[in-house]
Amino acid sequence: MTDPLVIFTPSGKRGRFPVGTPVLSAARQLGVDLDSVCGGRGICSKCQVAPGVGTFSKHGVTVEPGALSVWNAVEQRYKDKRGMIDGRRLGCQAQIMGDVVVDVPPESQVHRQVVRKAAAARDIVMDPATRLYYVEVAEPDMHEPSGDFERLAAALEKQWDIRDIRAGLDVMRKLQPTLRKGAWAVTVALWRDHRGGPAEVLDLWPGLREAPLYGMAIDLGSTTIAAHLVELRTGAVVASNGVMNPQIRFGEDLMSRVSYAMMNPGGDTEMTRAVREGMDRLIAETAAEAGIEAREIVEAVVVCNPVMHHLFLGIDPVELGQAPFALATSDAVTLGAREVDLRELNPAARLYLLPCIAGHVGADAAAVALSEAPDRSDDLVLVVDVGTNAEILLGNRDRVLACSSPTGPAFEGAQISSGQRAAPGAIERITIDPETREPRFKVIGCDLWSDEPGFTDATAATGVTGICGSGIIEAVAEMRMAGIVDAAGLIGGPAQTGTARCEADGRTHAYLIHDASAEGGSRITVTQGDIRAIQLAKSALYAGARLLMDELGVDRVDRVVLAGAFGAHISTRHAMVLGMIPDAPLERVTSAGNAAGTGARIALCNIAARAGIEETVRRIHKVETAIEPRFQEHFVNASALPHAVDPFPELARVVTLPQVSHNTGGEGGGRRRRRSA
Ligand code: FES
Repeated sequence: MTDPLVIFTPSGKRGRFPVGTPVLSAARQLGVDLDSVCGGRGICSKCQVAPGVGTFSKHGVTVEPGALSVWNAVEQRYKDKRGMIDGRRLGCQAQIMGDVVVDVPPESQVHRQVVRKAAAARDIVMDPATRLYYVEVAEPDMHEPSGDFERLAAALEKQWDIRDIRAGLDVMRKLQPTLRKGAWAVTVALWRDHRGGPAEVLDLWPGLREAPLYGMAIDLGSTTIAAHLVELRTGAVVASNGVMNPQIRFGEDLMSRVSYAMMNPGGDTEMTRAVREGMDRLIAETAAEAGIEAREIVEAVVVCNPVMHHLFLGIDPVELGQAPFALATSDAVTLGAREVDLRELNPAARLYLLPCIAGHVGADAAAVALSEAPDRSDDLVLVVDVGTNAEILLGNRDRVLACSSPTGPAFEGAQISSGQRAAPGAIERITIDPETREPRFKVIGCDLWSDEPGFTDATAATGVTGICGSGIIEAVAEMRMAGIVDAAGLIGGPAQTGTARCEADGRTHAYLIHDASAEGGSRITVTQGDIRAIQLAKSALYAGARLLMDELGVDRVDRVVLAGAFGAHISTRHAMVLGMIPDAPLERVTSAGNAAGTGARIALCNIAARAGIEETVRRIHKVETAIEPRFQEHFVNASALPHAVDPFPELARVVTLPQVSHNTGGEGGGRRRRRSA
């Protein structure tokens, strides 16, 4: 008689096993992805499977009712205590008795896929560095003296085939009471080094730990620090949060922080302390929001630009302020949370910082490369990640170039007269009627447009407080499309634009979007200074992209991915009207949300991605904008809306920009303006 045939779905893996083989053992032998924390002891329930009954013509088998051993007492006990979906079995308890088809539901798969929203992006396959393992440890024996830790290590080797294990002092201090409390059975959180170094016990609990572990993906930006709290088994984001980077008080942009470090002895230490405290606060607040203890967070992945990288690690960034912009280290960094004074995380928590690409192109750009994978693209893709600095990648399978461009914080709503962070009450969408030049807008936290009935009541709690990054991009682009602003970026007066909303503001004009001053609310305008700030920011962005295109010898790209802290809300059409990005078919311009944050999340959830991005970064060719003479030329030409020289034929197919000029000779804020086409 031949052994019964077992077919696992969805993998399709199959094999024959002797009668009485537990389903979990068969899965392991076939390399089927079936989870287990307790090692088959019937207590963790992670190994749940759904056996099928009946004829499976696709597989050519008929499954009889007795194909698995009868429901046993261990399964019943688990079901009584915790509940289990009808039809499910514990893979470690159910034995194979006849031909059977066994489905492994997603929640029982270790390497489950976390589906990302962005259509073009790859899904994340769960394989985190830290996992839980339940072990039963031999009791001490006076006749065979050995340490408790050595017996724990031996148990991990015997029961889980894991060797070369270390633990820090914090764990050693907990080890003896925990082993005794758990009657020599414990669950350990074990972290694996993706470079093959020793595994490390990060924490341990008596008996079986059922609660999940958490990791954090942190995007440490110059202006804001954003974090996702991720459940390490499922990849689910359980909370997301952001705080302002407290270093802002030392200077708004990176170079002013580097000069603060240069001019003030001890300035770098002060800034290091500030950013670490800010990060600690963010960790505590995010954990509280999710209702967990911050010490349940055992890992964090941090992405940041090179200056933040050095300041966070406590390395003086002075070398990054001058050519040749040498990094202390460009390699990825793995270290303990305590080494960088993070006190809220688990004391043994491990931190991973992605590699930097170069002195101006940091781990945040590497994270964008990990998330958007230009190195796997068949067509030529331009990826821009807009923050206080824009990280720009251009390339395809053959070659990828990268640079960073100093856009300043205008796209994040900073340095804008009515600008604010993306928070309830902030204008995030706006349209301006090209005939009447009347605006209508939407604020964060309300689904209604401002001209819809009920808007005032719906926004009564928050008010209309300012304009966030995506809002200012739309506002300026809409002003350009409505002829309120001309190609040179000049706001017209009431006579030129035909609307009283264009009001005098010193020697220039400002466009009034919303006025609640009579009710004690805000008066929200876009001023000439705001337009200028957006022009500077977008010129830097465009010039960086052009420089990479020059380097590659191309004058157009196949597609554009627009990413940034302003999330998925950015309107690609408005970005194109502003000339933030080179002309491309609008349907091939996509918005990827916070790609650096997503890259951090991928590195947190998948250990192989760490090795992968380290390898990719070595191959990325980096272009230094600061010393490239053509950058200035591109920058000047890019000041016009959308551009002084470069044609935008794809944009012209969908938008007709009015040919207006508001330059009346003496006006313009006392500033001399460049002529533009
Ligand atoms: Fe833990 Fe089956 S492996 S219950």
